[in-house]
Amino acid sequence: MSVDLFEIKIPASEAQLGMHVIRLDRPWEETDFMLQGFVVKDQDEINALREQCQFIYVEGKSYKQYGQVADRKPAQAPGRAATATRTPQFVYINKIDVSEEIGKARESYKIAKSMATSILSGIRIGKTLDINKTKEVVDDIVDSLLRNDDALMWLSKIRNQDEYTAEHCLNVCILSAAFAKRLGLPEDEIRLIGLCGMLHDVGKMKVPLEVLNKPTSLTPDEFELMRRHAEFGRDILMSQPGMLNKAVDVAYNHHERLDGNGYPRKLKANQIPYYAKLVAIVDTYDAITSNRSYSRGRASMEALDIIYRFRGTQFDDELAKEFIKMIGIYPPGSIVELHTGEVGIVVMQNPKSKLKPKIVVVLDAQKRKLEQKILLDLLKEPKDSTGKIYTINREIPDGSFGVKLQKHLEGGLILNYPTLDEHKS
Ligand SMILES: [Fe+2]
Repeated sequence: MSVDLFEIKIPASEAQLGMHVIRLDRPWEETDFMLQGFVVKDQDEINALREQCQFIYVEGKSYKQYGQVADRKPAQAPGRAATATRTPQFVYINKIDVSEEIGKARESYKIAKSMATSILSGIRIGKTLDINKTKEVVDDIVDSLLRNDDALMWLSKIRNQDEYTAEHCLNVCILSAAFAKRLGLPEDEIRLIGLCGMLHDVGKMKVPLEVLNKPTSLTPDEFELMRRHAEFGRDILMSQPGMLNKAVDVAYNHHERLDGNGYPRKLKANQIPYYAKLVAIVDTYDAITSNRSYSRGRASMEALDIIYRFRGTQFDDELAKEFIKMIGIYPPGSIVELHTGEVGIVVMQNPKSKLKPKIVVVLDAQKRKLEQKILLDLLKEPKDSTGKIYTINREIPDGSFGVKLQKHLEGGLILNYPTLDEHKS
């Protein structure tokens, strides 16, 4: 084995652009880095490594290449499976604040959800899909995302088990379009990817309801039937007047996996269309975090961990890493248990520290509903009654201890609660 493949322990002060950092001297969850294996891309990352670590472990080859020379262009992560990377063409910024957008976003979400429900029930009875109306609804969603994507990202965390398929289609629409925005794709592609997300699972409407909603495990035949939803989706969409090829592509290919172990055609990495690779990641994330007839949704971090583990084998490496960065450790709408046992809802991430979001505390340490909710900005290091700085213990799924995101959003969960200091005074 070449020495180049070994990792080398170096002081964090020697970190340079282009180095491939394999691991840190502390758990990566405790740092500001979203991923434990990454190529140093800019000076901010160098500064963060120097601030947060004493030592780092870098790949031997990249150390030899970049160890002595600063200001080089970043290297490609070596040894990775084929990736569908596309150069960002645009940098989008949120034009308005989330508190301004949330009202409009709720309206668009409501309309889009009823649209998704009616598309799906229409297909079940053989009705023609109104593609123009569907585009209009998706455009409305994308308009909201372009103004401020946090608002719809919150709403996409609402979970109603009974309306899984419609909610899932809408969430995949929202997250796929938000992801395309994050990737810097042109606006027309963001709209098209949103549409592909909305229609990716229409084939499930050809699967009998008793199989689709079965609360126990499927028989091999039922499982096979379920997997056929990809082909059904292709057939349904191809038969619709004015349908777009990309939407057909995504419906047919969103369960294909890079290593050829997907379905229906066992395509390999470079045979899978880019949009299908993108939607596959979003679809997996939403499915894992959703409540199903047979299981409760898992925490966002668990889903990201799975996507991270299967990057390069099932999911496109670069897309998986970008998606993880977009969602973040504690995305808005996450429900978290604090070190005190109190439970809160994340209302905003702090760009400076992924572990220190703003949280509205809704349950006390005994899990009793708080009459007066409190806003904690963890970046300001608020302290509990014993003088200990507040930290997050763990993320818990929606509905845990009776905390339902939807109820709180309907109640107008915005940032207008008193902070801990204001509450005490
Ligand atoms: Fe699917």
